[in-house]
Amino acid sequence: MKELQLTSTLYVYDDLNELSEEVQQLMLTAIETRKKAYAPYSKFRVGAALLLDNDEVVVGSNQENAAYPSGLCAERVAIFYAGAKFPDAIVKRIAISATSDTKVTIEPIPPCGACRQSIAEYEVKQGAPIEIYFMGETGKVIKSNSLKDLLPLIFDGSAL
Ligand code: THU
Repeated sequence: MKELQLTSTLYVYDDLNELSEEVQQLMLTAIETRKKAYAPYSKFRVGAALLLDNDEVVVGSNQENAAYPSGLCAERVAIFYAGAKFPDAIVKRIAISATSDTKVTIEPIPPCGACRQSIAEYEVKQGAPIEIYFMGETGKVIKSNSLKDLLPLIFDGSAL
């Protein structure tokens, strides 16, 4: 038996202002986008903004459904839209902001497992890491240099 240790490094910023102007702008776009979420059931609003290497910004917000599993997270709405509209573009970074109508969300909210798996597909496809920044409503921002730091041992098409 061998022990396998998996390590990830994430970067925690106390405030959005500590980040570059470009990242701040992308996060402000995510914040604006989360306000357009369709979240009548959870009252939890998530916005995601993607910057592509063609300088396009693609956004997504969570879209819920009375048949709950039919809804989709903000991150997947955004990355699938980017894949559909700009199939050859590289996703450079993603900014995510989440808030609740019922409580204040000050801790950074990481993307769910299904969103990590979906983002992983595009990181593998493009052969370049995707920076991921996530926050709550206000306060700290966490940065991951690559999706792989959020999802070790990713499952990808090489297994098929
Ligand atoms: N949600 C996202 O949009 N992204 C995540 O990574 C986690 C959860 C949404 C899905 C659902 O509309 C609501 O938040 C509550 O789970």
